[in-house]
Amino acid sequence: MATDEKTSKEQNGSISSVLTEKRKFPPLAEFSKNAHISSMEEYEKLYAAAAADPDKYWGDLAEKFHWFKKWDTVLEWNAPYAKWFSGGKTNICYNAVDVHANSWRKNKAAIIWEGEEGHQRVITYGELHRQVSKFANVLKIAGIRPGDRVAIYMGMVPELIIAVLACARVGAVHNVIFAGFSAHAISERVNDSRAKMVICADGTRRRGSSINLKNIVDEAIITTPSVRSVIVLKVTGETVHMHDGMDHWWHDLMGLAMDECDPAELEAEHPLFVLYTSGSTGKPKGILHTTAGYMVHAANSFKYVFDIKDEDIYFCTADVGWITGHTYMAYGPLLNGATILMYEGAPNYPQWDRFWDIINRHKVTILYTAPTAIRAFIRAGNEWVTKHNLNSLRLLGTVGEPINPEAWMWYHRVVGQERCPIVDTWWQTETGGIMVSPLPGATPTKPGTATRPLPGIMVDVVRKNGEPCEANEGGYLVIKKPWPSMLRTIYGDNERYEKTYWSEFKEMYFTGDGARKDEDGYIWIMGRVDDVVNVSGHRLGTSEVESALVSYEAVAEAAVVSRPDDIKGNALVAFVTLKDEYVGDMNLREALRNHVAKEIGPIAKPDEIRWAKGLPKTRSGKIMRRLLRELATSNEVKGDVTTLEDFGVLENLRDQEDD
Ligand code: WT7
Repeated sequence: MATDEKTSKEQNGSISSVLTEKRKFPPLAEFSKNAHISSMEEYEKLYAAAAADPDKYWGDLAEKFHWFKKWDTVLEWNAPYAKWFSGGKTNICYNAVDVHANSWRKNKAAIIWEGEEGHQRVITYGELHRQVSKFANVLKIAGIRPGDRVAIYMGMVPELIIAVLACARVGAVHNVIFAGFSAHAISERVNDSRAKMVICADGTRRRGSSINLKNIVDEAIITTPSVRSVIVLKVTGETVHMHDGMDHWWHDLMGLAMDECDPAELEAEHPLFVLYTSGSTGKPKGILHTTAGYMVHAANSFKYVFDIKDEDIYFCTADVGWITGHTYMAYGPLLNGATILMYEGAPNYPQWDRFWDIINRHKVTILYTAPTAIRAFIRAGNEWVTKHNLNSLRLLGTVGEPINPEAWMWYHRVVGQERCPIVDTWWQTETGGIMVSPLPGATPTKPGTATRPLPGIMVDVVRKNGEPCEANEGGYLVIKKPWPSMLRTIYGDNERYEKTYWSEFKEMYFTGDGARKDEDGYIWIMGRVDDVVNVSGHRLGTSEVESALVSYEAVAEAAVVSRPDDIKGNALVAFVTLKDEYVGDMNLREALRNHVAKEIGPIAKPDEIRWAKGLPKTRSGKIMRRLLRELATSNEVKGDVTTLEDFGVLENLRDQEDD
């Protein structure tokens, strides 16, 4: 056993780190030979050059794109506000679609789509160009102007990417809302961004049944005065109610639209999209990304981390409703003229081998998925994987949360057949693209670490006072220099932007993650340090789940914490205090779980609900979530309880039988 546990003392406000992993896997010579970056020397040289002259590094990369007008300055940094490629004019849709449609790639597959029921569609770059241009005209006819926000709420069908690209083409700001979110979550996001239009599907398929998305939108837009029209794509043939004057069928509008549409010539800093993510307090944060800087890093990081070649078939299992889907399902691959495999449905439909079957049939070469999926596959059993021929695979990726070394080893052995490098990619909705990752032809990997930062990315692990930590000392993960795909602000809330990311450490971006850097400079992520938990690779603010619980009639107070879970990474445990006249029982538990699903979405459903007569609080009334976390994990509290106001409350909170 090469993993052993060690607990280093908390010191200098740093965080103890408990995991030491000794295994190391250098890239195979066979892979390195043809890789874009083929040795550590090459990486080190690039990293040093980018550090010495970041403007030159990013400027050179930007040269590769089509600009209607070249930029004047690479970076204007008025901390914490960045302007990249000021004075330049470009269009990311033009660079992702037209450039290839006007080249030999015209007939190359841009998207190979497979529906849950086995339908197949292949959309070439030429066809993508036609569809995107037509839909861009639809948007224009519907009165969408540059800067207008457009919400998109649909399942994983090619039209989702077409809608996103069409927005970018006309300069509209897309706000994709994951199709698992509730009506309440939609209206919250639509109201925050004041979206003028909603693009949705009639329904979406999930595990053999279908969900009526249009009904959810109907409910949501009762409370969203900014929405003037809804465009509905027919996917499942659901019965939907079309409101006169407000709702329009996608196919009707597309039938009228011309298929040529000049891309808008947009300022480099023109807003591209808002994507909402959880924060530790209050409502979701609208993370704002802009055009040119995002384009440069999305394209370049995709090229080098996934070592993309024209022959590759790249399968990303993320939903376009999350940032991974934006950057590495849509923009990154398309900007590189790559072929994307897009799968509509669940990994276990009709059986647990769906991904492996897809990989075999389509001869997928690169797979990008999440640790939560990998853990579910491990549990389902190796036979689902090994019965398929996976020889086409040459590279594997993971994202979303730390991957446990044993899950990494399984991915390496069973899926990669010890032949495929694994890129464990660390990044966030806010960073726009990958920040820390192996370069597959260069970096020796170790199970459980995202290894080294990409060239141009100045990450570090620091103590509470901002000083760099020593090797293997746990601390806070920060980014010390601006990067082109960084968020520009929280939509409509500069103050929250400054407070959340730039107030913890002087002149450094704080990621919210704890980490340590080992003796090789490899970054080991230790998870979030705030009240944000990572469930199945998605960030959830526990305070949002608490608010949802408290909005239920019977609930007086609630605290939500996480405990480790084999499959989901973390499971949510809710401690709930009821109003006096209510009694906690099984039915109420179920009702509360369903209420949270309705308010936020099924991913936020607490896995466990414990009734609490009172919650452990400090004298100033702050809920001591740390104690609840301990209770939820081990059913006992060993940590410091000296600041606890009332010791009696803890006794009542231990494991409860169903009552
Ligand atoms: C948080 C960001 C980036 C797309 C998916 C999640 C955690 C992400 C890794 C990784 C360890 C990771 C971090 C980060 N995370 N990737 N490779 N290793 N942790 O995006 O919802 O914005 O969440 O996910 O805690 O801060 P997100």
